[in-house]
Amino acid sequence: MNVYLVSIFILLLSTIHAQQMELIAGHVLFRHGDRTPISTYPTDPMKEKDWPNGYGQLTSTGIEQHHRLGQYIRTRYESILNATFDPREIVVRSTDYDRTLMSAQSNLIGLYPAMNVTSDKVPVQPIPIHTVPMSEDFLLGVNTCPRYDEIEQGVYQTDEFKRMNAYYKPFFEKLQVWTDISNITMYNAWDIADTIFVEHLYHKEPAWATEEVRNNLTAINQLSFHFLYLDDDTKRIRGGPFVQDVWSNMNQSKHGFAIPKLKMYSAHDTTVSAALAFLRINYPHQPQYASALFIDLYKQNQTYYVKVEYLNVTDSNKPQPYLLEGCPKVECPLDIFTAIYQPRFPGKVEVECGSKNKPPSDDGNNKIMIISLSVAVVTLTVIVIALFIYVYRRSHNSYMPLESADIAEPTV
Ligand SMILES: *[C@@H]1O[C@H](CO)[C@@H](O)[C@H](O)[C@H]1NC(C)=O
Ligand SMILES: *[C@@H]1O[C@H](CO)[C@@H](O)[C@H](O)[C@H]1NC(C)=O
Ligand SMILES: *[C@@H]1O[C@H](CO)[C@@H](O)[C@H](O)[C@H]1NC(C)=O
Ligand SMILES: *[C@@H]1O[C@H](CO)[C@@H](O)[C@H](O)[C@H]1NC(C)=O
Ligand SMILES: *[C@@H]1O[C@H](CO)[C@@H](O)[C@H](O)[C@H]1NC(C)=O
Ligand SMILES: *[C@@H]1O[C@H](CO)[C@@H](O)[C@H](O)[C@H]1NC(C)=O
Ligand SMILES: *[C@@H]1O[C@H](CO)[C@@H](O)[C@H](O)[C@H]1NC(C)=O
Repeated sequence: MNVYLVSIFILLLSTIHAQQMELIAGHVLFRHGDRTPISTYPTDPMKEKDWPNGYGQLTSTGIEQHHRLGQYIRTRYESILNATFDPREIVVRSTDYDRTLMSAQSNLIGLYPAMNVTSDKVPVQPIPIHTVPMSEDFLLGVNTCPRYDEIEQGVYQTDEFKRMNAYYKPFFEKLQVWTDISNITMYNAWDIADTIFVEHLYHKEPAWATEEVRNNLTAINQLSFHFLYLDDDTKRIRGGPFVQDVWSNMNQSKHGFAIPKLKMYSAHDTTVSAALAFLRINYPHQPQYASALFIDLYKQNQTYYVKVEYLNVTDSNKPQPYLLEGCPKVECPLDIFTAIYQPRFPGKVEVECGSKNKPPSDDGNNKIMIISLSVAVVTLTVIVIALFIYVYRRSHNSYMPLESADIAEPTV
């Protein structure tokens, strides 16, 4: 080997070193771990009491999956995260479901293993997990949202949806006999598909759920996720708030503010799907248990970059990097990321979720309103007159006994 080659090699190495990207912050959105079924069908021999802790709960497998994911996240963010809890470094948010809260807890035990435990009094590091009521959780896509429901109803009217529904009609007819559920369509088959999926994992599936049947159910399940965020409005409503929150954190950093180095979001398959759809990198699938979407912020020579990766297989520890549409490379300059996604960010929840179906201004509705108003006016008048008579009589009848406050209501 000659000196010339060696010096080129050293030069190359030093260039790579000079241009190395520095990790600034990580954002992780994950699905909860393995859980029991959400619901059942009439012929199901497995009843709720047959599942540990009942329906929709994290299982011990789910706890372990998230503990391992937390360990992976520790190795991934080792360079930016202190081994001990520092409230300025980490922010954790979860939807208000038992299974997502417990997943976050299990994950954090993996992320912050108790150091130097000299007694077994409290062998974990407690880390705060924030949540809001489900009906208000716009950020993680589970809030009450009439506008979203309306758009979904529209999707069911599309030719593509109707075509798939027609294609599976013979299968749905068989499924109706097996499950004793009537009127199965693409719209509600997901429930059965998910329950059979879980039962099969636990070797509790009914005899009719053969491999061929389960393949059909899996295909139907994947299609349901495809239809869920087909429309740009649903992508924005359900996936936009999370990406916007992540972007705000990155924007703060770019403007020189101190930001949390790790933001974790514990949510659902639907949340992960919506975020992927908002980023325009979704594909027809149900995100697996403890799958995770990473949006990391890097800095190189004063320029900020965003890297999106999706760990799409449980326990694989192998996230796939994504080249975002409109970005020159996988490490997307933050300014370009902003130019692509900022125009698509959602507005306030009141605007995004308010029903677009304004009350029709036809006579029917007006009549109802006029009648209600008239009734109210008449009632008020009667009450006022009655009160007037009551007060008048009382002040003019000196023999009227004084009444105690709690029975002082005039009887009209
Ligand atoms: C981690 O936190 C401990 C305790 O607050 C502190 O002493 C230490 O300097 C921190 N380490 C780093 C790398 O920030
Ligand atoms: C445990 O404490 C000892 C002494 O303070 C220290 O040297 C060691 O690095 C600590 N171990 C871990 C895993 O933090
Ligand atoms: C799967 O669905 C197709 C389409 O409805 C149907 O033709 C086929 O028989 C189904 N497979 C099984 C095993 O039921
Ligand atoms: C099934 O759907 C049809 C048509 O929408 C409806 O008329 C019927 O009442 C439904 N049956 C049940 C049991 O829901
Ligand atoms: C980005 O951050 C700066 C600094 O905090 C702020 O002034 C600006 O409004 C932010 N941009 C948006 C669109 O929020
Ligand atoms: C970093 O940016 C400065 C100013 O834009 C430039 O002069 C320098 O060559 C850059 N260094 C690297 C390693 O890209
Ligand atoms: C995970 O992602 C890889 C790469 O995009 C893809 O080939 C694979 O099919 C995905 N697996 C699942 C289970 O979605």
